[in-house]
Amino acid sequence: METIHRVFVGDSRELSAVADDSVELVVTSPPYPMIEMWDDLFADLDSSVADALESGDGREAFEAMHTQLDRVWDELERVLVDGGIACVNVGDATRSLDGSFRVYPNHARVLEAFESRGFDPLPDVLWRKPTNSAAKFMGSGTLPPNAYVTLEHEYVLVFRNGSDSRSFEPRADRRYEAAYFWEERNRWFTDVWTEVRGELQTLDLEDAAELRERSGAYPFEIPYRLICMYSTYGDTVLDPFWGTGTTTLAAMCAGRGSIGYELEEAFLEAFDRRIDDVPAMSRSIGWARLERHRSFVEEYRAEGSTLDYDAEYYDTSVVTKMERSIRFREVESIENVADGYRIEHEPLSDASE
Ligand SMILES: C[S@@+](CC[C@H](N)C(=O)[O-])C[C@H]1O[C@@H](n2cnc3c(N)ncnc32)[C@H](O)[C@@H]1O
Repeated sequence: METIHRVFVGDSRELSAVADDSVELVVTSPPYPMIEMWDDLFADLDSSVADALESGDGREAFEAMHTQLDRVWDELERVLVDGGIACVNVGDATRSLDGSFRVYPNHARVLEAFESRGFDPLPDVLWRKPTNSAAKFMGSGTLPPNAYVTLEHEYVLVFRNGSDSRSFEPRADRRYEAAYFWEERNRWFTDVWTEVRGELQTLDLEDAAELRERSGAYPFEIPYRLICMYSTYGDTVLDPFWGTGTTTLAAMCAGRGSIGYELEEAFLEAFDRRIDDVPAMSRSIGWARLERHRSFVEEYRAEGSTLDYDAEYYDTSVVTKMERSIRFREVESIENVADGYRIEHEPLSDASE
C-alpha cells in the first residue's frame, strides 16, 4: 500500500493546492487567539489585531484573530468530503488587558464558526493537561472573591461536514483492517482524556518536549488517536496549521495519506530530520498496541470473562466480531517527491511470531 504526504509552505487561508472534496479528515490545532505567543502572527495576518491590542480592546482583538481563522474554516468546508470529520484542538485564553483579567473562550467561538458553516458538532473531548501546580496561586491567592480558576484543559472539538455520515461498501477491507481494539475504543471514545502521554510516551522523539514548547505542538498521541478513530486506510488527513508536522507523522505511522500547510519554512527542514525514525516508529507503535491488547486479554480472562473471537492476522483473541480483521501497517520505505513524500507500507507482522 502506498500513501502520499504533501507539505506546502503557504497560507492556509487559501488552500489552493487542495481540490474540492478531496480530504476525508482534518486534524489540527490553530494558533490560539489571545495567547501572547501568537500575537505577532495574528498581527501579520491582519494589522487591525495589533491596533486592538494596543488600545487594550480585548474583545475586538479576539474577534479580529478569529476572523482570520474563519477564512481557514471556510476552506475546510470546501475541501472536506461530505460526512468527513474535522477535529480541532483548541484551548481558551486568559489574559489581562488594560488592567482587567478575563477568559477568552476560543472553543466557543470556533464551535460557532463551524456550526454556521454547515458542520454538525459531534461530542467533543476535554483534554486535561498536567500543569505546574504553582500556577494555581494566581489572582488574589487565598482571599475571596477575586481569585480565579486555573485552566488545565483544552478541547478537541469534533465536527462532521454536513448531516450525513460517510458510507462504505459492505465489508470494505480498508475500513475493517483499520479497526481498533474494543478496550482502545473504551479509552479513546471517553470524553475526558487524562493520559494521552501514556501509551506512546516512549516513542516520542528525544527533542520533542523542547520542540513542543517552542512551536505549540501537540503530543503525537493526540493526532494518532484521532486518525485511528475517524479515518480508514486510503484516507487523506489535512492539517492546515502543520507546525512541526505531528499530524503527518501520525498519519504516516497510521497508514493514511496527509496534506499540511505551514507558514514557517524552518519547520519543514526540521521535519526532514525526523523522517528517518518513521519506519521504526510505525513498527513500535503497532507492536505496543498489540502488547497492550494482550495484557488486556490476560486481565479480562483473569476476571472470568470470555473472548469469543480470534484475530485473523495476529495471534490473539478479541472481544467483538468487528475487531477480527485488525491489521496494522508498518512503513517500509520513504521516498522524497515533489512537495513531500511517497511511502510504501506493508502489513505489520506479529513481533511475537
Ligand atoms: C499551534 S501551532 C500547530 C502545531 C502542530 N499541531 C504541531 O504539532 O507542531 C500553529 C501553527 O500554524 C501556523 N500557522 C498559523 N497561521 C497559519 C496560516 N494562515 N497558514 C499556514 N500556517 C499557519 C503557525 O506558524 C504554527 O506553526
